[in-house]
Amino acid sequence: MQATLFEPLTKQTLLNAGLKEGMRCIDIGCGTGSVTRLMANLVGKAGRVVGVDIDKRYLQYCNRKINSRQNIEFVHDDICKSQLDSEERFDIVYSRFMFHHLTDRREAVRSMKRLTKKGGIIMIQDLDHAPGSWLCYPENKAINTLRKVYVALIKKGGGDPLVGRKLYKLLVDDSLNANVDCFSPCILMGQESYSSLGWQLAESIKPHILEQGLQSEQEYYKMYEGLRTLAKDKGSFVTYARLFSALGRNSE
Ligand SMILES: C[S@@+](CC[C@H](N)C(=O)[O-])C[C@H]1O[C@@H](n2cnc3c(N)ncnc32)[C@H](O)[C@@H]1O
Repeated sequence: MQATLFEPLTKQTLLNAGLKEGMRCIDIGCGTGSVTRLMANLVGKAGRVVGVDIDKRYLQYCNRKINSRQNIEFVHDDICKSQLDSEERFDIVYSRFMFHHLTDRREAVRSMKRLTKKGGIIMIQDLDHAPGSWLCYPENKAINTLRKVYVALIKKGGGDPLVGRKLYKLLVDDSLNANVDCFSPCILMGQESYSSLGWQLAESIKPHILEQGLQSEQEYYKMYEGLRTLAKDKGSFVTYARLFSALGRNSE
């Protein structure tokens, strides 16, 4: 659901960055491959797209989904200790929602730079769950609680819930000619499919919330019921985390 919510923005950001037919692109931390497939459609038959992930189960899933399309390939790699062949360089080296997982982000940027053609683009998109970024009006307690619990879980998993704001500096520090943009989607309650994002997110992380002792069953259900009620409340909206898009051009 998160991938679909951000797809139009991701597509537009890629097109604004100059992605066009015939280009060679690579999607680092491709997960289920939604952006990899989007890029493959945009570059067409004359282009080539590679999806990369550290988790072989995602790669198996991605390979099943593409039915031997010729302009797309999935390969296994840990971008923090990359073994990818840097002889092959790409016009666009892309990554979404991966950087918050990484312990060695600088090495990841170095590897991504090695994979970028001279004049090519590195694009990293990731979220920033700053307090206040999940803005609900009229104010809603359940959403505030969900943000806190979600942020705590990301941290417990070794991730950084505030990585979005740090992406631009990472690129600048690696001597890239960089730029950054920020966007927060506004989700209307009571009328569109994304209004269920809150309670669906809560459901999907429930086992972890309880396992980590972040909430009791009772606290969880109170939050969950609050989110179900909010989803039906026409007149309310929620802004989800801020999406930062950092772009760097490789001049080396
Ligand atoms: C939240 S998913 C994002 C998937 C996809 N990019 C998207 O936007 O829908 C993060 C992905 O990064 C992958 N990942 C995490 N650390 C990685 C690493 N060091 N090297 C390559 N992939 C990694 C995970 O396995 C996971 O598939």
